[in-house]
Amino acid sequence: GAELSDKLEIPHPTVIAHRGASHLAPESTAPAYKLARDLGADYLEADLQRTKDGVIVVFHDETLERTTNIEEVYPNRLHQTIDQFTYEELLKLDIGSWFNDKHPERYRESYLGLKILTLDGLIDIAEAGNNNPGLYLETKFIDKYPGMEQDIVDILESRGWIGKEPKLSGIDKSSNKEIGAPTVNVAEGSSRVIFQSFYPESVVELKKIAPDVLAVLLISESIEEERGWNKIIEEAVNISDGIGPVGTLAWPWRLGPAHKHQLIIHPYTINPAWQMKLLRHFGADGVFTDRPEIAIEVYEKG
Ligand code: G3P
Ligand code: CA
Repeated sequence: GAELSDKLEIPHPTVIAHRGASHLAPESTAPAYKLARDLGADYLEADLQRTKDGVIVVFHDETLERTTNIEEVYPNRLHQTIDQFTYEELLKLDIGSWFNDKHPERYRESYLGLKILTLDGLIDIAEAGNNNPGLYLETKFIDKYPGMEQDIVDILESRGWIGKEPKLSGIDKSSNKEIGAPTVNVAEGSSRVIFQSFYPESVVELKKIAPDVLAVLLISESIEEERGWNKIIEEAVNISDGIGPVGTLAWPWRLGPAHKHQLIIHPYTINPAWQMKLLRHFGADGVFTDRPEIAIEVYEKG
């Protein structure tokens, strides 16, 4: 685990902020990602989709009801999916207020009226500040988004995050050590971006167009039930660099064979400290978590 992560230049154990610091701030918004970055998460996790006019946006659900005020803004379009809206139409939605309503104890005025983020906006956030988190990017609902993998790769290339000579984060780790600045959270070079998907065909496509970027195959309970662990591992070895199993699948007898095949293992979505400790003990290389503030403490990365 640790050796493999080192070889791949992934900080270990890896703290992956799931939709940002999404316990403390509304998921997939600028404040959630800024908080995760400033807390020192190694990676900002983001679900990617594409608007009708081709803008890559950060949004988890297929539809907008759960985390926006679509009922007020577009009452007749409640069940329409992201690909049916233009970017400008999506900008009219408030994607923060639901959080204040649902979690009054974590209410913040600054969460009112937040706008949907683009992949470019997320890159801006990752590049700001001193912590230089990496990006852990998921392709969602791929049937709706033919060619999305190429769109994502194009953006990352144009921003210098991947490509022939990826721009480094600008932090010199060795000199930081000397001046006592934080040295954690620097994911750069080949591991600065990690792709992830539940869809093997999307992982294959990403590897085809960006072979040097790491890619992780996500595994849900239903996928495991359907295909069986051994078959999935066999496939993951062929197409990816690692696996992202749901936490309930992450038992030692499953993680062992994956590690034996040199696959990194990042289970999702792990929020209580005891689960983070247990999974570490079981051999996981890190966690996707809504609570990077806890993971950083548990894994003593602060
Ligand atoms: O990407 C890991 C985890 O986020 C997968 O589940 O539904 O939260 O995207 P989901
Ligand atoms: Ca995700």
